[in-house]
Amino acid sequence: LDKIIKRCCDVVIIGSGIAGLYTALNINKDYKVIVLSKDEIEENNSSLAQGGIAACISDEDDIELHMEDTLKAGSYYNDKEAVRILVSEAKENIENLVKLGVVFDRDEKGNLMVTREGGHSKRRIIHSKDQTGKEIIRALKKAVENRDNIQLIKEAFAIDILTDRKKASGILVKNNNEVYAILAKSIVLATGGIGQIYKNTTNSLIATGDGIAMAYRAGVNIVDMEFVQFHPTAFYSKKDRKRFLISEAVRGEGAVLRNSTGEAFMKNYHEYKDLAPRHIVAKAILTEMKKEEKPNVYLDITHKDEEFIKNRFPYIYSECLKRGIDITKEYIPVCPVQHYIMGGIEIDYTGRTNIDNLYACGEAASVGVHGANRLASNSLLDGIVFGNRVAKDINNNRRNIYDFELKYSYNKEEKKLDLKEIKEKIREVMNKYVFIFRNEEGLNKALIIIKEIIEELNRYRKDSVEYYECVNIATVAYLIIISALKRKKSLGSHIVSHSMEVGTFV
Ligand code: FAD
Ligand code: SIN
Repeated sequence: LDKIIKRCCDVVIIGSGIAGLYTALNINKDYKVIVLSKDEIEENNSSLAQGGIAACISDEDDIELHMEDTLKAGSYYNDKEAVRILVSEAKENIENLVKLGVVFDRDEKGNLMVTREGGHSKRRIIHSKDQTGKEIIRALKKAVENRDNIQLIKEAFAIDILTDRKKASGILVKNNNEVYAILAKSIVLATGGIGQIYKNTTNSLIATGDGIAMAYRAGVNIVDMEFVQFHPTAFYSKKDRKRFLISEAVRGEGAVLRNSTGEAFMKNYHEYKDLAPRHIVAKAILTEMKKEEKPNVYLDITHKDEEFIKNRFPYIYSECLKRGIDITKEYIPVCPVQHYIMGGIEIDYTGRTNIDNLYACGEAASVGVHGANRLASNSLLDGIVFGNRVAKDINNNRRNIYDFELKYSYNKEEKKLDLKEIKEKIREVMNKYVFIFRNEEGLNKALIIIKEIIEELNRYRKDSVEYYECVNIATVAYLIIISALKRKKSLGSHIVSHSMEVGTFV
């Protein structure tokens, strides 16, 4: 056992997405803050965000309406107070983003432009063309680089949270082949989503649920994991595991879903048709796919003016063209894939977890704001509203470093684990049994396989990032399955059904 090197700071934030960077920027300038990213600073789900951020800013809108839409999309399973906080603190945080240098699209009068997305009764999505997330991360990264009190460290992988008697005192990090501890007065988990546990996802490769798994190992409450969101419209491709998203804003600007006979089928499923909440559209698409025995349906925006499409959705236009589809003239093949998780690390309204000194925010956290399914474009908003609350709580509570003797050990590799194969197995199981439709029989089958995988991983402990990610993927899969088994009836994104094969052909 080796005693390991320790570094100290006031706050360590794991994650350089919108939640991590925005939290860092709202912490008092006299605190020494370290922000870690396991990859490049920009490699995260935030950078991929297309549609925009929901916020009630126009005179025709009302925060009560934003609240009602959020509750409706979440099947009223949401924490109502959290939703009130989200919608009522939206405007001030959007203004703060603008002050920090984020450039959103504006009309000729200089007012912020707003679009519509699924489940919204009003136009309230603020955007930067179809790459809103890229613009936000560009601006926040620049703002962070201009702050002397914040240190950004890339390619630094957080392995675990250091805790003793329900108090967190830091984290264990692997960086440049060296393992060290960062001791901090406050620790923030802003580690993002879990997409990489599924075969097909819109998520970045970094989305392996590390923060949720680390928190679980540290004894933090993990909640609502059965609520996984599947985005209805990812570009269908046989060969790509990571799927390109076709933003809901495309439907917001008039695109229509069609089955292989050309029928605009959403009128048969919901009064909002193509702009119904996500799980309703995803379920409708799967039903059509199953009926027609086809791996996809189509999204049609060809009736819109060519110049409008190219100007409003330049990124989607060029990415589809690379994949052989000219969206101004052809239908886009789409199908639902994993996109987001509503559950995660349980936090209160200040972002605190049940472990002292430990906070969480962003997609990894769960304050109950999204209920059983998240309303479109409420995630970036969640990241800034609750990230800001975490920062405020840290600013208002000066703490001491809680130090204790620290030793680190791992067994030398005893057997060559085929981590690639293990990850593929987990993803197959999740796609087959824990997709949009689930039932007890399938979930129990999945549980047996995932438990065996976890046992194997525990037996042959290795010191590599790939190994740690694999353990985290398996842990998150386990947490989703056991939560799903407890929920016997359909609610929001958790749909109980007996058509077992549905997940397999996507
Ligand atoms: P992320 O942005 O994913 O950042 C996570 C960070 O944690 C990364 O920096 C990563 O390196 C770091 N990290 C993770 N584990 C470790 C570890 N072990 N050690 C060190 N660092 C670690 N939402 C909207 O509201 N509007 C949209 O238009 C929208 N569009 C989307 C489009 C796509 C394609 C996707 C995938 C998502 C979209 N979402 C959208 C959802 C939204 O983008 C995400 O939920 C949100 O950005 C998550 O932000 P985050 O800061 O919590 O996590
Ligand atoms: C999209 O642009 O469709 C994604 C929006 C979201 O995930 O909220």
